[in-house]
Amino acid sequence: MTNSNLKINAGRPALIRSRIIFVFLLCCWLLALNVSRVEADIVWLDELDLSLTTQSWAEPHKNQSVDGHGLSIGGQTFKRGFGTHCDSVLYVNVNSNARSFSASVGVDGEVNSPRASVEFFVRGDGKELWRSGVMRAGEPAKPVTLELTGVKTLILEANAASGGIGADHADWADARFDVVDGARIATMAVPVEPAVILTPAASPKPRINGAKVFGVRPSSPFLYTIAATGDRPMTFGASDLPAGLQLDPQTGRITGSISRAGEYSVTLHAKNALGSAKSKFKIVVGDKIALTPPMGWNSWNCFASAVSEEKVKAAAEAMVRSGLINHGWTYVNVDDYWQNHRDSTDATLRGPIRDPRGNILPNARFPDMKGMIDYIHSLGLKAGLYSSPGPWTCGGCAGSWQHEAQDAAQYAAWGVDYLKYDWCSYKDIANGKNPDARDIPTWAESKGTNDQAVAAYPFLVMGKHLRQQNRDIVFNLCQYGMKDVWEWGASVNGNSWRTTSDIYESWISLYRIGFDQDKAAPFAGPGHWNDPDMLIVGKIGWGNLHPTHLTPNEQYTHISLWCLLSAPLLIGCDMTQLDAFTLNLLENDEVLAVDQDPLGQQAKTISATQSTCILAKDLADGSKAVGLFNLGEETQVQVKWADLGLKGKLHVRDLWRQKDFGRFKDSFSATVPRHGVMLMRVW
Ligand code: GAL
Repeated sequence: MTNSNLKINAGRPALIRSRIIFVFLLCCWLLALNVSRVEADIVWLDELDLSLTTQSWAEPHKNQSVDGHGLSIGGQTFKRGFGTHCDSVLYVNVNSNARSFSASVGVDGEVNSPRASVEFFVRGDGKELWRSGVMRAGEPAKPVTLELTGVKTLILEANAASGGIGADHADWADARFDVVDGARIATMAVPVEPAVILTPAASPKPRINGAKVFGVRPSSPFLYTIAATGDRPMTFGASDLPAGLQLDPQTGRITGSISRAGEYSVTLHAKNALGSAKSKFKIVVGDKIALTPPMGWNSWNCFASAVSEEKVKAAAEAMVRSGLINHGWTYVNVDDYWQNHRDSTDATLRGPIRDPRGNILPNARFPDMKGMIDYIHSLGLKAGLYSSPGPWTCGGCAGSWQHEAQDAAQYAAWGVDYLKYDWCSYKDIANGKNPDARDIPTWAESKGTNDQAVAAYPFLVMGKHLRQQNRDIVFNLCQYGMKDVWEWGASVNGNSWRTTSDIYESWISLYRIGFDQDKAAPFAGPGHWNDPDMLIVGKIGWGNLHPTHLTPNEQYTHISLWCLLSAPLLIGCDMTQLDAFTLNLLENDEVLAVDQDPLGQQAKTISATQSTCILAKDLADGSKAVGLFNLGEETQVQVKWADLGLKGKLHVRDLWRQKDFGRFKDSFSATVPRHGVMLMRVW
């Protein structure tokens, strides 16, 4: 028994041992199974097709920064991830297959510029799920982990947080998805929107468009082309024109000069085989010009440093040929690079800066400035030039420093109607770095007590010289909104002033600039306008022409917003390549009338949520222009009459479609597409 007991006792530990081994092996197997399951359930962002990213500069990189270095943020290195450049958007079709997303984000260590400022966003099905806050070079990575259950489309955005996109190298390090049971997810192209044309074709019968009020100084040369749509041939008339003016009945051009100050009520007429039209037009002879925001074209956003006389003349011809002149478009403005350059190797930019008497000399691409401007005038249009109060423009061409009076006189002699005057190298003077700038106020002297006077000084000088000329020259201050220029721009004879740094072609840039103008709104009015920069529709590209990266709805938002803001409208695209969609944006007279409204009020935000914004302004006829903007994915936007200070049953008209919606009690709501707008008139 003992033996058998012994046997039994001897057999039990063996059994236990084998059971333990069995359980151990089972655990190992289960663990192995689990580990492989976990591995299979992770999808790294860098495994997906990153080439579907849209970004404003360079190419997206897998496991590397945008410049092709190993990923590093704030001194920490990462093996995996996605290196991109602001503004960057990547769509991921997760299709409810992901449990979570995680990453560590930040500015890549290859950048150590104080200019770098990036904000990372994660959006799920149109809603903002997370934002990083502004991140700068050298800061440690910020971790993010998000629940994604039920999310179909995830958007990863890295946006320039302030100023431009310069130095904004953005990393999504260790970016990964935890997916459901080995499901697959994939990146996708940004959804393409159809470019739907909303503006109805102009009637073949005559219709007079354009501003209803026009300012001119006593005895200044007068040029106004009656803007009228309708079949040609068309003849024009004007009753009660003040003494000194003549109308050419074939071209509709009114020229001459009026010596007596005062207000003159004129009636304009246009007639063709199908009918006739008339319209009231007020000429105000006095101190103020630019009574409505200037409308025209500028060479910068399309040609940048590659501008030439042929391109400018072609733009002017296209303004006429395309019919835009019949909607009030007037100015043809040359930006930087009509002067000779400081040190360019381009032979067309080399040559003496000034003649022996100090007169500014155009470069070889503009062999006959006076001839070119006369030609622009002969088409019924006006001409503009660009300079800087510093010795050099932003592009390094000759500026007006110490030649302000001479330059103003030269512009007038050439027949210039508009001057954009850009701070650029004047910064060295304001910084006290120029030994010739003895009596000029500097930041150092001001010690923060009178900075506006320092900022205003160079514009005061040029503004005074422009006023001494015998022609009206619209004066645009370009200094990117420094020292709240809107508060003092009018006091230095400015007719408009840039309120922001340069616009670039991305939704973020448009959104950041366009919806941040309330601060300056009280300072806009007839003769003095806030300028949120030039238009980025059509073929643009700063010397590298391509269709704008804005979606069709973003372009409707752009034009609607600029019109609500009473902003100067300066087309930035190649005028010889206007397509039907771009023309539809630029020739809707009911939309343009919001910009050109004689009251000159700038719209203000009347209500906003994280993804919608409503702007409204009063119009001269007592109605209101209202924009319902959608900053996210398609949604309903509602405006309450009470928020507009109105009540009862009101008429609503869709301005893009030029159609009445009917009358609505208390409120109106519309379905507004992604980044789109419903622009309407309410009365
Ligand atoms: C920038 C200005 C641009 C363009 C450019 C020319 O300062 O903001 O609009 O004029 O200079 O170099």
